[in-house]
Amino acid sequence: MKTILITGATGTTGSATLQQLQGKGLALRVMTRSAEKAAAFEKQGISAVVADYSDPASLARALDGVERAFLVHSPSLEIPKHEKAFIDAAKKAGVKKIVALSVIGAGPDSPLRLSRMHAEVEAHLKNSGMAYTILRPHSFLQNLLGNIPTIQGQGAMYSNNGEAKIPLIDARDIGAVAAAALTEEGHDGKAYTLTGPAAVSFQEVAGAIGKAIGREVHFVNVPDDAAKQGLMGAGFPEWLADDLVTLNQWGRQVGEQQPSEDVQKVLGRPGHSLEDFARDYAGAFKG
Ligand SMILES: NC(=O)c1ccc[n+]([C@@H]2O[C@H](COP(=O)([O-])OP(=O)(O)OC[C@H]3O[C@@H](n4cnc5c(N)ncnc54)[C@H](OP(=O)(O)O)[C@@H]3O)[C@@H](O)[C@H]2O)c1
Repeated sequence: MKTILITGATGTTGSATLQQLQGKGLALRVMTRSAEKAAAFEKQGISAVVADYSDPASLARALDGVERAFLVHSPSLEIPKHEKAFIDAAKKAGVKKIVALSVIGAGPDSPLRLSRMHAEVEAHLKNSGMAYTILRPHSFLQNLLGNIPTIQGQGAMYSNNGEAKIPLIDARDIGAVAAAALTEEGHDGKAYTLTGPAAVSFQEVAGAIGKAIGREVHFVNVPDDAAKQGLMGAGFPEWLADDLVTLNQWGRQVGEQQPSEDVQKVLGRPGHSLEDFARDYAGAFKG
């Protein structure tokens, strides 16, 4: 049986994709840079390979005998170089199809650096000659887990979203769409825009988390500069903090963003709602 390789299996969408594919009798292999994490996967009966996008020899080993692959990279300025290297190595190894995680609005003229980097990778993948499916998600509901310290400490979450309503997507649905694109017919050459089923404001987000944890949570809107400083204080590099602040500025201008129907079309069910997410992650928010 030909192998499916899942990169980023220690991360948010890779782990969600792995979860969807497990237990279906498929030949799976996960990729991580960490020997320790690879050993932990092996202990659970999951075949794991240690590889780094910056090391071509390790990619050749990871891709040996692989038919299809899920491609993801943490948000980084290395995305174009590393993901293009993976695509080239996959082509060389005889891989038939890549399902690549991109971003909503990916395009060469986007004001967001992440969107421009993903556009560069998308173009490279389209020109590779391999079959592909591109996943372009909106912001993840799981990003809200970054607010745990202030939710637990102050019953508050801070950002520069204002009154913007955004169809945040649950990463579990991204994993489900990735799994479908890796194992079902009919997804080749497609680019799916992945959003949650409804646009929600951050006031509603705070309310849903508060309800799920049985404690009041307030959303506090902050000026753009303060939002940037907060993100950098939490460890985000400056370019990414700038991207996120710019994205929220744009969100405020648009007001309410329309959800996409692609999750429903691919999965035959709606994506998880804000309320589903808040309920399922209540333990993490409570601590
Ligand atoms: N968060 C959002 O709201 C959002 C929205 C739209 C699009 N996106 C896109 O989603 C992607 C991030 O997805 P995610 O949240 O699932 O990522 P993540 O949780 O940050 O995990 C990414 C994985 O990348 C792997 N990785 C990083 N550098 C590597 C390297 N040099 N070689 C091999 N593997 C490497 C890491 O694996 P190891 O550490 O185990 O090696 C990690 O598990 C980004 O491209 C971002 O632009 C995010």
